[in-house]
Amino acid sequence: MGVIAAKPAKLSFSQVAALPVGGMTADQILRRLDLCTGSQLLVYGASGSVGSYAVQLGLYYGAEVTAVCGTANQQLAANPGAAKVLDYTITNWIDQAGRYDAIVDAVG
Ligand SMILES: NC(=O)c1ccc[n+]([C@@H]2O[C@H](COP(=O)([O-])OP(=O)(O)OC[C@H]3O[C@@H](n4cnc5c(N)ncnc54)[C@H](OP(=O)(O)O)[C@@H]3O)[C@@H](O)[C@H]2O)c1
Repeated sequence: MGVIAAKPAKLSFSQVAALPVGGMTADQILRRLDLCTGSQLLVYGASGSVGSYAVQLGLYYGAEVTAVCGTANQQLAANPGAAKVLDYTITNWIDQAGRYDAIVDAVG
């Protein structure tokens, strides 16, 4: 992904204005993880600006993604194809977590 790209015709200017910051932050992180098919990735904050891109980029690299976010955003995190979505408001996700090749903290 380059720093400059043409705006897709089907997206509005306000839609594309929301894309670069979280997307490029996630891209910088995900590129360093050496993910490959079958890698286990957990994204904490999977419904946010950075985290939602981290989920999608993880899937793009072939990882099996576990997403952690709040109750209202469970479907949002599941839609791209996360294998498992955990709700931090009702469960201690660390107790339910398995073993991961990488964990992205997009909560801070
Ligand atoms: N945006 C950027 O480009 C950027 C760049 C550099 C660094 N950062 C840092 O990256 C972090 C995330 O930024 P963002 O812009 O992606 O934030 P955001 O869009 O506000 O997303 C925050 C995420 O944290 C989750 N969350 C909120 N309260 C939580 C809690 N008490 N326990 C667990 N999860 C909780 C939210 O889940 P629900 O909404 O589902 O509850 C959501 O998934 C921040 O620390 C920010 O400073 C961001």
